[in-house]
Amino acid sequence: MPTPADITRAAELKQRLDEHGFRYYVLDDPVVTDAEYDRLFHELVALEAAYPQLARADSPTHRVGGKILAEFAEVVHRVPMLSLGNAFTDEDVANFDRRCREGLAADDADTNTEIEYACEPKFDGLAISLTYEDGVFVQGATRGDGAVGEDVTLNLKTIRAIPLSLPANTFPLKFPKLLEVRGEVLMLKKDFAKLNDRQLAKGEKLFVNPRNAAAGSLRQLDSKLTAERPLHFFAYGVGAVEDSANAEGLNQRSSHAQMMNWLEALRFPVSAERRVVKGLQGLLAYYRQIGERRATLPFEIDGVVYKVNSFAAQEKLGFVSRAPRFATAHKFPAEEATTLLLGIDVQVGRTGAITPVARLQPVFVGGTTVSNATLHNEGEIRRKDLRIGDTVIVRRAGDVIPEVAAVIYAKRPADAREFVMLTRCPQCNSHIEKLEGEVIARCTGGLFCPAQRKQALLHFAQRRAMDIEGLGDKLVEQIVDAQLVRTPADLYRLGLTALAQLERMGEKSASNLLDGIEKSKHTTLAKFLFGLGIRHVGESTAKDLAKYFGNLNAIIHAPHEELLLVNDVGPVVAQSLRHFFDELHNREVVEQLRACGIVWTEQTMSIKEADANTALVNVKAPGLFAGKTVVLTGTLPTLSREDAKEQLEAAGAKVAGSVSKKTDFVIAGAEAGSKLNKAVELRVAVIDEAQLIEMLAAHSRQEKSN
Ligand code: IVH
Repeated sequence: MPTPADITRAAELKQRLDEHGFRYYVLDDPVVTDAEYDRLFHELVALEAAYPQLARADSPTHRVGGKILAEFAEVVHRVPMLSLGNAFTDEDVANFDRRCREGLAADDADTNTEIEYACEPKFDGLAISLTYEDGVFVQGATRGDGAVGEDVTLNLKTIRAIPLSLPANTFPLKFPKLLEVRGEVLMLKKDFAKLNDRQLAKGEKLFVNPRNAAAGSLRQLDSKLTAERPLHFFAYGVGAVEDSANAEGLNQRSSHAQMMNWLEALRFPVSAERRVVKGLQGLLAYYRQIGERRATLPFEIDGVVYKVNSFAAQEKLGFVSRAPRFATAHKFPAEEATTLLLGIDVQVGRTGAITPVARLQPVFVGGTTVSNATLHNEGEIRRKDLRIGDTVIVRRAGDVIPEVAAVIYAKRPADAREFVMLTRCPQCNSHIEKLEGEVIARCTGGLFCPAQRKQALLHFAQRRAMDIEGLGDKLVEQIVDAQLVRTPADLYRLGLTALAQLERMGEKSASNLLDGIEKSKHTTLAKFLFGLGIRHVGESTAKDLAKYFGNLNAIIHAPHEELLLVNDVGPVVAQSLRHFFDELHNREVVEQLRACGIVWTEQTMSIKEADANTALVNVKAPGLFAGKTVVLTGTLPTLSREDAKEQLEAAGAKVAGSVSKKTDFVIAGAEAGSKLNKAVELRVAVIDEAQLIEMLAAHSRQEKSN
């Protein structure tokens, strides 16, 4: 028999584990470490093992899953789970709003009064119903056909965000004898990505999207398997409520928004994006605003839901067939669509990288018509077991490049063909080779290959390199095809007559281009170096090299070992630099460019020389961001990306392109996207431009006063 002390301890452990779980999974604000949580958890497991009578139905120990079912039992919903009408256009929404106004107006009253609506995201997951009796979670079911669903109670218990019991003693938050909470089970985007990484590592099938992953995970007969899948839950309504005399909390509330606040107080996760708005304009503004933030939300949504806020008004409007008249779903354009894979082409990039590209039967997805999608590399085609002729699911989310997300194998025709990787470049007929250990195949043609030449010229001309105004991809295409230009140096020898003869090129635009080329001659060593397009030498490495060596000749002749002394230059980068400058034709191009009049100020004293003679150097105090890695994301209100970067680098920061555990600061502007999410997830400090400027100014004031 458990002693009274054991009984108290078990209750205390449950209460603390519930509290920590709530803070971690619902509030995303944990106060204990995972290890501390595990310690408490195992203590409770041990107590319950010794005294099974201590294991209550709502014990957190049930969260790890249990016995294996033969099948799911049927559950008849006390209150049917309905569906929602859909709106796709502003006009559809206007009609919805008009119908609501007409339905609510007294017979001869005017229908102009604006209605108050509760708006929330439309979660892209699976609808479920949770039954609580006397505050304890007793049964959970899928929607099924709306009338009868499947009993997935054991699986739902593994979802940490679903409370196993309602907070009992938090007067006046009493709950009814029976309460059904309705909501959506889903998988957060970050958890989905991690799950697919794991599947890949195990060589198992990838999930197409978070919704499929959530559905597959919830319908496991072995709840231990569900417990391994990171599912989440959001509540958006209630079903049956019995003994509501006791449901003071709910009775005192007369609107959807108030009910949602009550659910939140009962510790159900509810959307932080929920808003109350007025009238049609309010609805449409909400739709736009959530649409803009869609990519940055931690979960997938496929639209927003509008509900007439007042319960009395809801009741008056009632239902049509199986959907409420008082609510509708305003859908976003679908991000996934099914289409046919007609063929696979290959594209040749600047460094010769061969990228297979899917040619698709045009399909409307993510708001545009898509007829090509990247397939990344040959390995990806094999991994997805993609064949020409297959029916595929194409995905285009936000501004990202369209992708083939999955194959519908059931629809594969008998004559579907496997993709055969080319052995020769389609542009220049050079050999295609794939080095040991690399995933990417490359054309070996170098600048002999017109495709690589075009990309190299575009790289050279871009704003962050030589900044040649007016030289875009169409023009590069033309001047290379007309054989006016082979190397970057040829650009500086272009003449007006030759240019003006190109199709669609008048004298005026030709002379504008020549002006742009002329202006680009004044540059910096770092930009020039970056523009050369040496493999692995990005903008930041080019800057480090320029800073370290101070002049181009020193870099051209630097032995491998010396290159390694430069910040962030490792063996791969050093080898790539040596490869490039050891090639005679590359050195020739560089010389020709200088002969064409490209100039920059060579540093009077490079770090290298300074190091050799420290006595001469005026050692500066370490900058504000010395040794710190900073990532910029979004649009800053006043500084351009380049300017911000320059300021940060001047203060000693290393400006990186992606957020990782090593990132010290993220500077976020408007419409910051996945990088900001990542930063929040990894708990990296996030500041805005104003804070950055303030920090820089304060530091420089301090420096001056010292
Ligand atoms: S309210 C009377 N709110 O959309 C129907 N549904 O087509 C009550 N859904 O099966 C549903 N997010 O799974 C509501 N914020 C939200 C929702 C939502 C997603 C799903 C739900 C339902 C479907 C209706």
